[in-house]
Amino acid sequence: MATTLCFINQKGGCGKSSTCFHLSGCLAELGFQVLLVDADPQGSLSQAFFGSAEIERLTAEETLAVLFDDDCHRASADLITLPTSFERISLIPANHTLAAHNSPSPELAGLKQQTLRAHLETSPRYDFVLIDCPPNLYLCSWNAMLAADAIVIPVPPEDFGTQGLRVVHQAVDNARQLNSGLRLLGHVVTRADRRLLVHQAYEKRLRSLYGDLVLETVIPEASAFKVALACRQPVGHFSPRCKAAQATRALCREILERVAEQAKKRQVA
Ligand SMILES: Nc1ncnc2c1ncn2[C@@H]1O[C@H](COP(=O)(O)OP(=O)(O)O)[C@@H](O)[C@H]1O
Ligand SMILES: [Mg+2]
Repeated sequence: MATTLCFINQKGGCGKSSTCFHLSGCLAELGFQVLLVDADPQGSLSQAFFGSAEIERLTAEETLAVLFDDDCHRASADLITLPTSFERISLIPANHTLAAHNSPSPELAGLKQQTLRAHLETSPRYDFVLIDCPPNLYLCSWNAMLAADAIVIPVPPEDFGTQGLRVVHQAVDNARQLNSGLRLLGHVVTRADRRLLVHQAYEKRLRSLYGDLVLETVIPEASAFKVALACRQPVGHFSPRCKAAQATRALCREILERVAEQAKKRQVA
């Protein structure tokens, strides 16, 4: 069975898509089969692999959107997984055609709340499925939470208000009522510049509020992430020895450890 991780935060620009993109490279390098699911109508993750022109050209039938169509049938659903140019990384793409399905009232969506979960249950075997959410908690994010084993919340260390995070935590709690196996794997501090006092202070505050629910690894703000993305390569493939790649590998190790711990706890329970 695959381990499914949902990368979520209702804010944009906090590194959800980047984390999915670069982390997929590390997991693949370790020999894991990875499926990325782009659940964001903005399609950033899909564009990172294939470029914006190619992704915007895709019809709804070639993207995640087809699963939400009322007349979706299995044959079309099976056609939406694209191999990428990286070994062991596949992607279910998304583009603007998903926007019409991203209802702001997910609890009214009936069976469509479980669309992604149902699809992933019948998908070929992967070791990891990483779902990249849009910057809101509408139906696409709700589907991601109901399909996931664990939640990762990327948080840039800039906003002292924890109000936004509370809403995300509340959504995770709500999702747990329909997906009892869902766990919060942790918050990842992203885009950090540890030279900035404000970043240090926010990180400290986050750790004092959430304890070991904040991963030790901190992803720095680094141009290598942007350059690698522009060259359409996960940073570990693009520049294996740079600090950004090292941080991503550290994050990958920590996530693997936490996934293993949670699996052990599940066996004991
Ligand atoms: N650690 C980082 N260092 C430098 N740039 C980053 C970093 N993380 C993300 N970015 C850049 O910030 C922008 C927003 O990141 P993205 O991952 O798309 O955020 P989100 O998916 O949460 O909206 C992108 O242009 C991305 O390249
Ligand atoms: Mg994104």
